[in-house]
Amino acid sequence: MKRTIILKNFRIVDENVNMLGSVIVEDGIIREVFPGSADFSDSGLSNKELDGFLDSARIIIDGGEGADKWGLSLLPALTDIHAHFRDPGFPEKENLESAALAAVAGGYGTVVCMANTDPVIDAPEAAAALKLRSDALGLIDLYPAMALTTGMAGKELSGITRLQPADSGQKAAWPGQRPRRPPLILSEDGKDISDDALLLRAFQEAKRLGLPVSCHCDEGGETKATARVIELGKKAGCHVHIAHVSTKEAVALIRGAKAEAGNAESGFTLTCEASPHHLVLTDETARMLGEETWGKVNPPLRPEADRQALLGALLDGTIDAIATDHAPHSNSDKKKGAPGFSGLETAFSICLTELVSEEGLSLSRLSSLLSASPSRILGLGDRGRIAPGYRADFFITDTDSFWQVDPANMKTRGKNSPFTGRDVRGRILMTIHRGRIVYEAPALK
Ligand code: NCD
Ligand code: ZN
Repeated sequence: MKRTIILKNFRIVDENVNMLGSVIVEDGIIREVFPGSADFSDSGLSNKELDGFLDSARIIIDGGEGADKWGLSLLPALTDIHAHFRDPGFPEKENLESAALAAVAGGYGTVVCMANTDPVIDAPEAAAALKLRSDALGLIDLYPAMALTTGMAGKELSGITRLQPADSGQKAAWPGQRPRRPPLILSEDGKDISDDALLLRAFQEAKRLGLPVSCHCDEGGETKATARVIELGKKAGCHVHIAHVSTKEAVALIRGAKAEAGNAESGFTLTCEASPHHLVLTDETARMLGEETWGKVNPPLRPEADRQALLGALLDGTIDAIATDHAPHSNSDKKKGAPGFSGLETAFSICLTELVSEEGLSLSRLSSLLSASPSRILGLGDRGRIAPGYRADFFITDTDSFWQVDPANMKTRGKNSPFTGRDVRGRILMTIHRGRIVYEAPALK
């Protein structure tokens, strides 16, 4: 018998849709989506079909009464193309379990974790083993990014040379092949390879595999580093994804290069992400929190003019995705100057509050930036939308409810949020992964 779930009376929002309606899920896949009220009168289904679904449904989740008012919102689960899970190697900061719990509490269903662990994820076997451990938890889909060089030492190419294009998951080698094996993306994380010839060879491997390379452009200044990876990316004809863009100069460079890349015969593709903290905070916040401690992050929080440029790039489509760069640290590491912020549990609410309510971004566009668009960058065309055939990965939120950011209530071990104490909208009430409830918010006191 099929495992059926009905979600009815929700405001259904994805990159293309914003309507009141209901969703029928069968075996972890969306079967029907229809607009209208609780009695399914607009569903287009026959009574017999409808009775069949209602009889077999194990769970019916009801968003609220009446088609004339918005109830709770149902959105596609989020996809984070950039997070640090610290596993293996740094359990005092985070591990697979605490990170996955934080992810589902933040509405995430798919996460890319960076390879700066101990040991570094620089072999296909290590990436696959980490994914298997995560799959066993059953909370999210984890896709470890693989380092470009052995041990991220910048000396010789890593196990990427042993990957086969089919492993990339971009195309299945035979029908029914288990798709989307890791890695889906390559990255040297904060360390870009300084040797041009070696970085070009890494890009050529990425081109062979059909995988994007996430470039952090942290070293030697963001503008110069961004220009360099764009130049080498053009030479290799690969997909360059620029991580956490933070300056107006980098935005301008990317905007220009994207216009060119659209016509490139080489296959050169350029995408980029911005993180909630760079979109919302400035160097002033860093000074307030402590530039060398709680306000420290790579790249640093920038002046307001840079933030304005990022907002412009978000609205005109230059920025393809919002990624957390979730970088949990222990309090003692943070006090010693470890850069980075925890972000998985605040990303949606911060963006909803500061970008949708304040800056006029539509909720559909926010959904795209946090879900469908980063999924596409990873080649995951089966998620990020609420439409028949897509995966039943959702979260439920009340966009009118307020809550206060308090790291003490967070699942992550890294209590280093720069948003502590803020009042934000849109508490995550429930997260559903492949048609199963993996997170429910505790009842409000
Ligand atoms: C990253 C981390 O902690 O892993 N921190 C950060 O501020 N983004 C590493 C890094 O990119 O410096
Ligand atoms: Zn990072």
